[in-house]
Amino acid sequence: MTENLVSIRGLTVEFRVPRGILRAVDEVDLDICKGEILGLVGESGCGKSVLAHAIIKQVDPNGYIKGGKVLFEGKDVFSMSEEDLRRFRWKDVAIIFQGAQNALNPVMRVFDHMIDTVLAHEKSSKEEILKRSFDLIKMVRLDADRVLKLYPHELSGGMKQRVISAMSLLLSPKFLILDEPTSSLDVLTQKYFLRLMRDIHEKTGITMLFITHDLGCVAEVADRIAVMYLANIIEIGDVKEIFYDPKHPYTAALIKSIPSAIGKMGEIKPIPGPIPDPVFPPSGCRFHPRCQYASDKCRKERPSIINIGGGRLVACHLYTQG
Ligand SMILES: Nc1ncnc2c1ncn2[C@@H]1O[C@H](COP(=O)(O)OP(=O)(O)OP(=O)(O)O)[C@@H](O)[C@H]1O
Ligand code: SF4
Ligand SMILES: [Mg+2]
Repeated sequence: MTENLVSIRGLTVEFRVPRGILRAVDEVDLDICKGEILGLVGESGCGKSVLAHAIIKQVDPNGYIKGGKVLFEGKDVFSMSEEDLRRFRWKDVAIIFQGAQNALNPVMRVFDHMIDTVLAHEKSSKEEILKRSFDLIKMVRLDADRVLKLYPHELSGGMKQRVISAMSLLLSPKFLILDEPTSSLDVLTQKYFLRLMRDIHEKTGITMLFITHDLGCVAEVADRIAVMYLANIIEIGDVKEIFYDPKHPYTAALIKSIPSAIGKMGEIKPIPGPIPDPVFPPSGCRFHPRCQYASDKCRKERPSIINIGGGRLVACHLYTQG
């Protein structure tokens, strides 16, 4: 039996917006197994970042966690004391935020960032931090002697992303969330970064949630994939099985719509219809206005995510009885 590091149950996150309430994460159930790399994919705005932040109980001020729970090693994150939550956020989990490269302080050298990160959360000597930083910068295959002395503007985009990855590992977290870590990198640098993440995963055994809208990236790095559509997780499965035998009509459409995914160039087909308004989402199955198999039941009833065997979970009436 694989053990879960993170179990998300019925998680719902909403935002107050001028037009009403926007439900960004809608009763999501998701397990992240110890030691795996889980890819979370879906079109822009489907709720990937909001879901990731909610795992550490972080929501923008105009939002709130409406319901559900997150268990980390069986501990209920939402009922932790402030002190436990603070420790959890730094000791157990590290997040590389979307656009984190731009958050490096331009007047601080790489090593100063390392010192600040460690000292903000634990007592340590400069020598100890130097040793740890040196090892980690080497692990992301950079010249530690040189890079630790550089300022952010002296690093290329790919180097910055590797420095940030090293920083995220400084406190030896058990769980690393990477939110679109490759979106600002060119294709070759992306490939190199993905291989590096796989290597780090093999060396350290760290559990990762790898968020991207690029299916090609996730195919290279993940063990399993969870597909998100308009605040819902609609399919979960082994990476190869999802690519070669997608069960949910949206997953199938997504794979066909993206040139970097598996498939011949001539077969690329955009997903029909626009992404619906998240403040007034469609009734029943959220995908029904764009789905060629939509029935009356799909328009009325929202499908629950069910296990259809072989570790595959799907939320679609084509797989439910009756
Ligand atoms: N603070 C906020 N206030 C209002 N709406 C928000 C807020 N943060 C996110 N949203 C909305 O929640 C939905 C999910 O946003 P989220 O950032 O999680 O998308 P995403 O899947 O990460 O997209 P991307 O691939 O572009 O990063 C979107 O409709 C977004 O506009
Ligand atoms: S539930 Fe119905 S509308 Fe939704 S994806 Fe399945 S067949 Fe299509
Ligand atoms: Mg995002």
